[in-house]
Amino acid sequence: MDIIWHNKSRQYHLYNDKISYIMGVTPLGDLGSIYFGNRIHDKEDMSYVVNRFGLANVAMDPDTESYSMELNRQEYPSFGLTDFGTQAFEIEQENGSRVSSFVYKDHKIIKGKTPLKGLPATYAGQDEAMTLEVYLEDEVAKMAMTLSYTIFENYPVIARHAVFKNIGSDVKKITRALSACIDLPDQDYEWMQFSGAWARERIPVTKKISEGSISIESKRGVSSANQNPFVIIKRPNTDDFEGEAIGMSFVYSGNFLAKAEGNTFGRLRLLMGINPDRFTWVLKEGEEFETPEVVIARTSEGLNDLSQTYHELYNNNLVRGKWKNTPRPILINNWEATFMDFDEKRILEIAEKASQAGVEMFVLDDGWFGERNDDYAGLGDWIENPKKLPQGMAGLANKISALGMKFGFWIEPEMVNPDSNLYRRHPEWVLATPGRKSSLGRHQYVLDYSKDEVVDYIYGMLKKVMGSGPISYIKWDMNRSLTEVYNADLPADEQGMVYHKYIMGVYSLYERLRNDFPEILFESCSSGGNRFDAGMLYYAPQAWCSDNTDAIDRIRIQYGSSFGYPISSIGAHVSAVPNQQTGRSASIDTRANVAYFGTFGYELDLNHITDDEFETVKKQISFMKENRELLQFGTFYRLRSPFEKDQAAWMVVSKDKKKAILGFYCMRANVNQLPGFLKLAGLEKDLVYVLRGEEYYGDELMNMGVTLNKLNSNFLTTGQDFVSYVEVIEAK
Ligand code: DGJ
Repeated sequence: MDIIWHNKSRQYHLYNDKISYIMGVTPLGDLGSIYFGNRIHDKEDMSYVVNRFGLANVAMDPDTESYSMELNRQEYPSFGLTDFGTQAFEIEQENGSRVSSFVYKDHKIIKGKTPLKGLPATYAGQDEAMTLEVYLEDEVAKMAMTLSYTIFENYPVIARHAVFKNIGSDVKKITRALSACIDLPDQDYEWMQFSGAWARERIPVTKKISEGSISIESKRGVSSANQNPFVIIKRPNTDDFEGEAIGMSFVYSGNFLAKAEGNTFGRLRLLMGINPDRFTWVLKEGEEFETPEVVIARTSEGLNDLSQTYHELYNNNLVRGKWKNTPRPILINNWEATFMDFDEKRILEIAEKASQAGVEMFVLDDGWFGERNDDYAGLGDWIENPKKLPQGMAGLANKISALGMKFGFWIEPEMVNPDSNLYRRHPEWVLATPGRKSSLGRHQYVLDYSKDEVVDYIYGMLKKVMGSGPISYIKWDMNRSLTEVYNADLPADEQGMVYHKYIMGVYSLYERLRNDFPEILFESCSSGGNRFDAGMLYYAPQAWCSDNTDAIDRIRIQYGSSFGYPISSIGAHVSAVPNQQTGRSASIDTRANVAYFGTFGYELDLNHITDDEFETVKKQISFMKENRELLQFGTFYRLRSPFEKDQAAWMVVSKDKKKAILGFYCMRANVNQLPGFLKLAGLEKDLVYVLRGEEYYGDELMNMGVTLNKLNSNFLTTGQDFVSYVEVIEAK
């Protein structure tokens, strides 16, 4: 890994063993892209890739009339010069002009990576990464800009963000500040996005890229279940096992935009950042605005390889503290068992049975506070309801501890019900537009986290209850989108700052609580997976993946989530049947076989299952305890897509390749067909592995595959719907 600066040609070459990222200062002073791809040799001058021909409709260089931004590739394009594509940023100046032209001034190359201020971001030690900061200035607009690029030693990854500074005495408005742009020299790619809604999150959708644009966005104030802030472009023949692809992952949890734009000259532009729609940032003299980070990863070896890069980078360089690379406790959550209808006795019944099965942690979900007996009341009153918890949270936590289990509870700190003491006292604390009614979602308003006093108040309440007893875990929920976004304390021209200030308020509360309680494991949640993004992982290393706990649907949801997020982050539980969301019934084995490839836990009352099932649960828990390190932190491979066939498969392989665990799922029996083979991946070709008592070479399992009737001779006959297998494969 190194970052080379060629002084004469004014070009940078950022490289590690896998990738080269080359760019340079053009003769006009702007920053142009040269190359992003497999590692190549360094050369003093590659400016031959810059197009200077007379075809330009309008030329930036009046002397030669030969340089047009429209025909060239740029690092961080602006509008209003000679590029007519989508710009990465826009600054409205005091005279109303939105044209800006930033030229190179200087740069700095540093070891490691500087943290972003108040924002989540990947981090790296001095030997793990190098960072290039390029300083540019627009002397007419009196604005400075820093473009930051980090290259990691061990990952084919570039992390980017930008910083704006007002160096004039007037007031500027930044009306667009995306975090990264990549201009590529051809458009022969497909675009993958991960779309959905409540209970069907992160379903892969693939589209052909050509002239014109494809984009996804969120304007909900959360990253959203509708569109995830992670996209991939891939060559049309790229699949999980081979081919070129580039991923862009936004380390941010609010409104976003991701866009691919092919211009009609063959250039492809990729952009990602805060959604410019509803965004304006006012910069007074001397003030700075820092964009969140985009993590760009690249592969030539297929989508599994790309996903593994994100899994490892996020496990090693995004998740922090005690839970970094730490296997997750097996928990039981009372939500689907009781909803809000519980008292301490009922909770202890569930906990006692769970402790007999070997469950390690009890999570008390919604309903423990204020007058919260249904979802019409109580949010905002983070004080225990004495009818449900007579000795408070501490009393219950101590009783659960006495059962040999850890304890944690649910909060939804960004919300308030109109029927709550908090709202009665502070109706002015909700997001509301003057003169208009605020919309309700699940009978609740959104607290205005762009106001410090609101965040401070909630912090005080939560700190008290979190510090009251042995608390090891917090599930932080967020159940509605933001509407009527307006902060009455801000002037009219600063209303475009509220969405971003809101999410900065959320991050600051997370950070304070994390600092106060460094041992606590946070799990983020937003009606399931409505805020499953890399930004959240910086604070909460796991996320409740979906409220849909149906094992068959979960195969698709977890499969889709695995493209951009590590298995250790995917909250997955065994719940009761018939499933509460779908009415489907899968066996207790299949429900666990899916949940093993996640954080693993239970979301039901184990008193209500048969004795045989309870014995099975005990075995599941010991299996998970023995294998969770491998399941959650091993190298994960998608093998067969649930979107293409009636079967799905995935596997994890240990770093030394001596042990692997395969998950195979038959969602629907296909009668009267040959069973076929399933090719495994990631094994050592010369090692001999044992699978179900039989020996196979690694190359045999990876090239010929395992014949599926080895897993079950009845496979593909009647009665095999929802049947699944989890197989441990060990080298001899
Ligand atoms: C939505 C979450 O996704 C559920 O798991 C549960 O915590 C409920 N909220 C509680 O209200």
